Amino acid sequence: MIPSIEFHKNLPSSSALVYGAWRMADGADTSAQTALKKIKLCLELGITTFDHADIYGDYRCEALFGEALKLEPSLKHKIQIVTKCGIKLISAKYPDRRVKHYDSSEAHIRSSVETSLKLLGVERLDALLIHRPDPFMNAHETGACLDALVTEGKIGAAGVSNFSVSDFNLLQSAMQTPLVTNQLEISLLAQHTFLDGSLSQCQQHKIRPMAWSPLAGGRLFGDHETAKRLHPALQDLAQAHGVDIDAVAIAWLLAHPAGIVPVVGTNNLERMARLGDAFKVNMSLETWYHLWTLAAGKEVP
Ligand SMILES: NC(=O)c1ccc[n+]([C@@H]2O[C@H](COP(=O)([O-])OP(=O)(O)OC[C@H]3O[C@@H](n4cnc5c(N)ncnc54)[C@H](OP(=O)(O)O)[C@@H]3O)[C@@H](O)[C@H]2O)c1
Repeated sequence: MIPSIEFHKNLPSSSALVYGAWRMADGADTSAQTALKKIKLCLELGITTFDHADIYGDYRCEALFGEALKLEPSLKHKIQIVTKCGIKLISAKYPDRRVKHYDSSEAHIRSSVETSLKLLGVERLDALLIHRPDPFMNAHETGACLDALVTEGKIGAAGVSNFSVSDFNLLQSAMQTPLVTNQLEISLLAQHTFLDGSLSQCQQHKIRPMAWSPLAGGRLFGDHETAKRLHPALQDLAQAHGVDIDAVAIAWLLAHPAGIVPVVGTNNLERMARLGDAFKVNMSLETWYHLWTLAAGKEVP
């Protein structure tokens, strides 16, 4: 069973692995019944936390998830929902929009929260993340709005995604409530956050980072030089632990002392059923650095 973790003492416990809904409306079968099957499989495995964003699936994924929950409303009490806002996409849903842009204004955050609550069919979002750092953000307006949403009980907590250390510090300095996570791209193929201060900041403030695309969106299994260097080592470890190589790649994230919470995105039910295997892999320090070195293509200085 995938274990539980705590993002913040004021929030319900979360699962140590989160299921990301970004790809949920991809592919041929986008029925609510299939979405429900995925949610139930996650719950059987111990994955209780689901990651959304208003824009996923061209503004379709939250609605699909909500339709699935309508088929079995009791599930709402067993799950935690993280969603995001702040990106405005060019979309047929918004025909007047001329340019893709960010919007961190109170008006947009509030209207996005109301839409997410309605589409998901829940009374509260466990966490709301600002999706990307916005060069036009008025931190005082955004921070006050996030605080107010917590006070009003519309969201359990606020967090950010893809924020640099300084963007994080700026927004936090304008808030009373703590930012509970920074959702970052972290994987064997995306090592930058280990070195740019982002993960150090999380450790310093005891904030659990979430890792998006922990398998590099499938590129880890691609036909390129880095994957070719990594595969034999991943395969050896997978064989030694009786798991698949994706479990080893996720275990590499779980092993890190920052307490990384991977957000996985497979739509394949067989792969989903094996997600818990990552917790069977014991990774020594040397093995961790062996994989780091193969991924980086050079030894550490
Ligand atoms: N905050 C942000 O800016 C941001 C950005 C991107 C994503 N996210 C979040 O992160 C979540 C996960 O992202 P992700 O879907 O890119 O994560 P991921 O788990 O790294 O990648 C999933 C993709 O990899 C493929 N895959 C998995 N195992 C495979 C294997 N053994 N062989 C071949 N292909 C394999 C999957 O295909 P199958 O479906 O066929 O298994 C799927 O297309 C998203 O759902 C979203 O919630 C956040």
